[in-house]
Amino acid sequence: MSRYWSNVVGELTPYVPGEQPRLANLVKLNTNECPYGPSPLALAALRAEAGDTLRLYPDPNCGVLKQSIATFYKVKPEQVFVGNGSDEVLAHTFLALLKHGEPLLFPDISYSFYPVYCGLYGIAYRQVPLTESFEIRVDDYFAPNGGIIFPNPNAPTGRPLALAEIERLLRANAGSVVVVDEAYVDFGAESAVGLIGRYPQLLVVHTLSKSRALAGLRVGYALGDAGLIEALNRVKDSFNSYPLGRFAVAGAAAAIADRAYFEQICAKVIATRTRLVGDLAALGFEVLPSAANFVFARHPRHGGSALAASLRERGIIVRHFSKPVRIEPFLRITVGTDAQCVTLIAALRDILA
Ligand SMILES: Cc1ncc(COP(=O)(O)O)c(C=O)c1O
Repeated sequence: MSRYWSNVVGELTPYVPGEQPRLANLVKLNTNECPYGPSPLALAALRAEAGDTLRLYPDPNCGVLKQSIATFYKVKPEQVFVGNGSDEVLAHTFLALLKHGEPLLFPDISYSFYPVYCGLYGIAYRQVPLTESFEIRVDDYFAPNGGIIFPNPNAPTGRPLALAEIERLLRANAGSVVVVDEAYVDFGAESAVGLIGRYPQLLVVHTLSKSRALAGLRVGYALGDAGLIEALNRVKDSFNSYPLGRFAVAGAAAAIADRAYFEQICAKVIATRTRLVGDLAALGFEVLPSAANFVFARHPRHGGSALAASLRERGIIVRHFSKPVRIEPFLRITVGTDAQCVTLIAALRDILA
């Protein structure tokens, strides 16, 4: 603690991102990146952007990217907000739409950045426990609130929530903003984007870091009623007019437009996930049903932190959360390539023997 800090800084509990080690030859299954490269069309767009125009500021409205997203989802560009990773989109959402008198509600086991944003912006919140089987029970959110946010599929459990349940939640919460963080939706859950026209309080947040294989570019977006998007623009224009550079805009617009490549890599990840779940179950793991590009699994006789440490010794990194205590036995394992998953299973077989 430095005497030069403002008070708020000393009181923050910052988010701790998954490790990005520099060692070569690691099997990196800890931060839910895509095991395949980005769309070749996105890479071509990035190369084309490297030129004299980098002298100039980018378009503050990111019009080319908003149009690409609007076309893909059949919405209007005014219903699209873009930011520097969905983390930035979420941060602006917390300040713009989720800070009210009543507490914000989100699951007790969820994306651990949510309480961090609450700390940063001074937002009161209440964590709603998942069920015994780690599911979101919509009826638990039928209470006075200043907003609701949850990932679908949830992270780190991977469990999806049915669209009919999300609609039931929206019907019961007409007076507050409901944010569905669909970072992993493309790997098998039902998107709520189609509900936007009917529910002006619904905001859906997406990222290009997972299903578009562009974690390194840092692009995320939100879709919702133009009134919600305007609130996000007001915060963005009070913070940073140019959150996305020319590379991010060009690469992301091309990646979104390349539907065929996107569908191909999602299908590959889903196929590998099916095999991985089967192989883990054969080793005695209990694996929660996953609609994401990761699985959440526990072994009846081995603790999560010991397993993660043993895997690490063998050059395989997975994510382990020691809190809350209910999820201590679990490992969150990103679905890698088939070859990476074979290496993982061989290492686990060796550790368990
Ligand atoms: C549920 C969830 N939401 C949002 C994000 C943020 O993604 P990004 O900032 O890379 O777009 C993540 C990252 O892992 C996540 O797990």
